[in-house]
Amino acid sequence: MKNFSSIDALLLFLFLLICHACTPPSVEKENANTTDIEAKVDALLAQMSPEEKVGQLALRGRSSREKGALPESLLERVRRGQIGAFLNVMDTSHMRALQRVAVEEGPHGIPLLFARDVIHGFKTIFPIPLGQAASWNPELVETGSRVAALEASSVGIRWTFAPMLDLCQDSRWGRIAESPGEDPYLASQLASAYIRGFQGSDLRQPTTMAACAKHFLAYGAAIGGRDYNTAVLSEELLYNLYLPPFRTAVDQGVSTVMTSFNEVNGVPATGNQKILTDILRDQLGFDGFVVSDWNSLTEMIAHGFARDAKRAAELAARAGLDMEMTSQAYDDFLLDLIAEGLVPESQLDFYVRNILRTKFRLGLFERPYVPADHPGTFYAPDHLEAAKTAVVESSVLLKNEGLLPLAPGTKVFLTGPLAHQGREQLGTWTFDGEGDRTRTPHDALPEATFVEGLSYSRDRDRGQFAQVLAAARRADVIVFVGGEEAILSGEAHSRGKLRLPGIQEDLLSELIQLDKPIALVLMAGRPINVSDYLSDLDALLMMWHPGTMGGPALREMLYGEAEPSGRLPVSWPRAAGQLPYFYNHKSTGRPANPEKFVGIEDIPVGAWQSSLGNESHYLDLGYTPLFPFGYGLSYGEVQYGPLEVSDTVLVEGQSLELRVTLTNTGARSTTEVVQLYARDRFGRVTRPVRELKRFQKVTLPPGERQTLRFTVTMDDFKYYDSEGQYGVESGTIDLFVGSDCTRAEGRSIDIR
Ligand code: NOJ
Repeated sequence: MKNFSSIDALLLFLFLLICHACTPPSVEKENANTTDIEAKVDALLAQMSPEEKVGQLALRGRSSREKGALPESLLERVRRGQIGAFLNVMDTSHMRALQRVAVEEGPHGIPLLFARDVIHGFKTIFPIPLGQAASWNPELVETGSRVAALEASSVGIRWTFAPMLDLCQDSRWGRIAESPGEDPYLASQLASAYIRGFQGSDLRQPTTMAACAKHFLAYGAAIGGRDYNTAVLSEELLYNLYLPPFRTAVDQGVSTVMTSFNEVNGVPATGNQKILTDILRDQLGFDGFVVSDWNSLTEMIAHGFARDAKRAAELAARAGLDMEMTSQAYDDFLLDLIAEGLVPESQLDFYVRNILRTKFRLGLFERPYVPADHPGTFYAPDHLEAAKTAVVESSVLLKNEGLLPLAPGTKVFLTGPLAHQGREQLGTWTFDGEGDRTRTPHDALPEATFVEGLSYSRDRDRGQFAQVLAAARRADVIVFVGGEEAILSGEAHSRGKLRLPGIQEDLLSELIQLDKPIALVLMAGRPINVSDYLSDLDALLMMWHPGTMGGPALREMLYGEAEPSGRLPVSWPRAAGQLPYFYNHKSTGRPANPEKFVGIEDIPVGAWQSSLGNESHYLDLGYTPLFPFGYGLSYGEVQYGPLEVSDTVLVEGQSLELRVTLTNTGARSTTEVVQLYARDRFGRVTRPVRELKRFQKVTLPPGERQTLRFTVTMDDFKYYDSEGQYGVESGTIDLFVGSDCTRAEGRSIDIR
């Protein structure tokens, strides 16, 4: 090995001097802040007793519904420094009282951090996260989380348990509603946007919230879509699919990470050293703090991983868990575990540092209370406007046989169990949203005749059916707003059948028999199985749970003042039996073949076993979803030119430019989501049949031609194999550009 000489040292000194001279002032300031914070953390840590250190690791919950005075015992615990953070304290006077005790009477004046699940809005509710993912518009997602941060921080909430970054390939899972969908690239773009929005450009500002990337890791891989269930993952899936959005979140500076309830390959996430330390700290370089999910630390007993709470605390402490949510095993056992040599004391210091660092970064030491001039206003006009735009951009037009937009003067009959349910259209995780401030379709369409028909999505009372049918007969068009109540998706609300609940299909089928044009508008937390009656509908519009401004947005879309411009962030299954389904699957040795496929109805009686195509498909559901990933219609017409590439060879260190020209050939302005997919033909492990690599959402005025450019480098095609090796080998990559994952405008390039 080469020796380090004094000449080298001199050269190094000169090099560092030049680097220092070249460092931009903003980076210098950042570095100074970082050093400053680390010095303050060290100073504080040196003064803290072991009990006070353990106190910082405690996140204590209050139920949102808890009323009445704060118990003196709780205040006393804060006074002694036994609690570091709270969730769900929603009485602002309680927050102030607790914070006052912490900073004025607590041992070192360490402020508390107040947390809440502010997932897709605080008061002004935006579409559910799966809906926001359907917007394919990171800017809009950033605005939504900015609005949420402004409103929530105005009452003192400086930590939100969002964004949820769990990819999901199974719509049975109730939490698909909170997920960014099934694609790691789209999810990563959204992860950055959420974090920029929540955390802002300067986390010290009192209008920001620390974000929490959750749930680490692979919670969305729950077997069969059953919540909390086991995740079994190869290295390849873990690194290529489930990890990328978290990697992006860490790169974007996410403050905190939450562990997931599930086990990953046999080890519950909360006690999983591989994912909490080896991956999150060592590989991703995360320097914020990790919080467990609600009681997930002590649930390691039910998992059959820890024999009791003490052992659970030991496993979590050794694995890399900084803060414990609600359960109290760290409080009860951590000091004993350290005394017994089962957990190193340095580990406790490491956790306290991570938590204090985050509190300093949030500026809580300088400004522990909400300032009097905080600009956050609930339901501010620009918040409502942004929420309405978000609904329009999230809504996916799945079918339109020339029905929409409606001509002015059309006599509309509005019906269905989601047409006037303010609370329900907000969707899951909207503790602070208010049904009576929500604008429903009925509110927004006062001129439409309205009979609700069913008063909630599972309602089985046919009492209003006759009235519905009579009113429908007198109308030009029927708009049926159906779907799922908010409670039917979200945590622990998995469903095995994906059809419309209750007797909505009965009412729909009676309406269909009237032979009037009919639009089905869905408000739901997941794709719904509409396969049996899709052909009878003239239009199908998926609004997800749209939030506060669902009604006005629907009005604008119905009348063409706005164009639904969402695209599916998940494959839409034909039926639950097809799940899990995802577009970026592998080919298999026997990929489905349209020429050989014989559906169940067409199998000749007495057919010989091997006489029919032996490929990967279902006899009764085929091999494609009802609507593919990336799909969505618009009101306009856009033509794609061929995909052009600046070179057909890509080498390390260079980039290629891909170009496609779009022309709006229709008469109205229209929005298109242009999607670029790749297929690596052969790999050292098999590669997915398609992978999203880039997208752009563009609006084209009538007659406009626009050339879109995408730059790709070798890094875009690198992947992890089963040995954890990252890279790409020489070979051919097929590139496709189009309006969903099935389009085949392709070119190939060679990697050398
Ligand atoms: C449990 C959920 O899994 C998590 O997402 C949420 O943030 C916590 N509870 C706190 O409410």
